[in-house]
Formats: sequence, C-alpha cells, structure tokens
Amino acid sequence: MSTPHNKAEKGEIAKTVLMPGDPLRAQFIAENYLEDVVCFNTVRNMLGYTGTYQGKKVSVMGHGMGMPSIGIYSYELYEQYDVEEIIRIGSAGALADDVDVMDIVIAMGASTNSNYASQYKLPGILAPIADYSLLRKAVAIAEEMKYPVKVGNVLSSDTFYTDDKTFNDAWKKMHVLAIEMEAAALYYNAARLGKKALCILTISDHLYTHKELSSKERQTGFRQMMEIALKTAIS
Ligand code: HPA
Repeated sequence: MSTPHNKAEKGEIAKTVLMPGDPLRAQFIAENYLEDVVCFNTVRNMLGYTGTYQGKKVSVMGHGMGMPSIGIYSYELYEQYDVEEIIRIGSAGALADDVDVMDIVIAMGASTNSNYASQYKLPGILAPIADYSLLRKAVAIAEEMKYPVKVGNVLSSDTFYTDDKTFNDAWKKMHVLAIEMEAAALYYNAARLGKKALCILTISDHLYTHKELSSKERQTGFRQMMEIALKTAIS
C-alpha cells in the first residue's frame, strides 16, 4: 500500500507524526532526537522517518509549504496510514505587539483567507481549532520548561507576498497573534476525519517591529519547539 506521494507501507508510520515544513528538518529531527530510525518516504524528497523517542514510537515527515501541500500529506497520514495525531512545528511572522521573536506560539485556532473549507459545503464557517488534549499538554510542558509561550489565534495565509499592504493590519486588529501558511488545512482535515492536530510555531520575524532572529536564536527557538512537540507526542 502506498499513495502517489508517500511510499510507506501501512504500519511503518507511528500514530503520532511531527511535521515540519522543510523535509531536511524532518531528517535533522530523526537523526538528532530519535533512535532506531527508519526512512519511510523519499517521494518528491518529502522525507519521512519513524523512530523512537524515550522508548515511544514517533514519526516525523515534512509537509511542504502552503495549505494544498499540508492538506495532501496530512490527509493521507490520517486516512490511509491510521495516524491519530499530527503536530505541525513551524515558523511564523508575529503580528501582535505582545508577541516577540523567539516566542513560541501555539495555535488554539487558525483563521484563514483560504478557500480550503469550501469542499465541505458548510452552511457557514467552521472555526479550525487545535485538539484540546494536545493543546493542554503542550502548554503545560512549555510552561514547566519556562519557555516563552503564547496561545491564541493565528492566520493561515495563502500568500506570503500579499499585494494588499493593509492585509496584515486587518488581522492584527482582530488580535491574531501571528501569520503562517498551513495550520488551518491541518485543523480542517483533523476535524473532518475525527483526528487530533496541533500547530506549534516559533516566531522568526515580527511584521511590525521588523525584528528577526539571528541564526543562533533560530536554532534555540527550534530546539525549544522540538522539545515541546516531542514531549507532547509521548505524553
Ligand atoms: N508569513 C507567512 N508565513 C510565515 C511568515 C510570514 O510573514 N514568517 C514565517 N512564516
């Protein structure tokens, strides 16, 4: 059994999958955090690995950029590979004044300008939200480790380079914390399929103060986010 995008056999993927956007980050996590690692996918270089973390089976796979991409990979993991939980780990640009670079933002909800949900023919708008059990665990772990964590609404945008220069202002006015490009599709898929999803983000840049992370800060932020995600995955 395989899909056009994933050559894994059923059983090769753990019930919980961590998903960074960049497949080389998936490789980095597998090589540096997991034991007894097996690579299950190389199709389109969207690397996927299964290993163990503190004795528990965990998988990690890239999801690419944007909602169509994460939409495909997460749907297949949930639907064809019986995955129960997906934790996206990514970066985001901050909008809110009280969110700073290096902060970790956990997406309780994912607002969006995407048309992804039109496929469900809902007679209204379904709010794409995180799984509460994963959210609660991740926040508790982050607070216990004294990592700078904020929880709230993020925007999953279809555009990185948005033509309308007032675009960010409108979302900032609604107290959306940060912008990224994938959480909403992941949360919609989880809602449709009765599965669990969470999105944990490190703030790489601030869209109003224009502060950016140095490469050293990027590493630290990434490490903190990874630790939260892995501990959430096994708890
Ligand atoms: N927009 C969308 N995604 C992002 C950004 C941004 O400004 N920064 C990091 N990921």
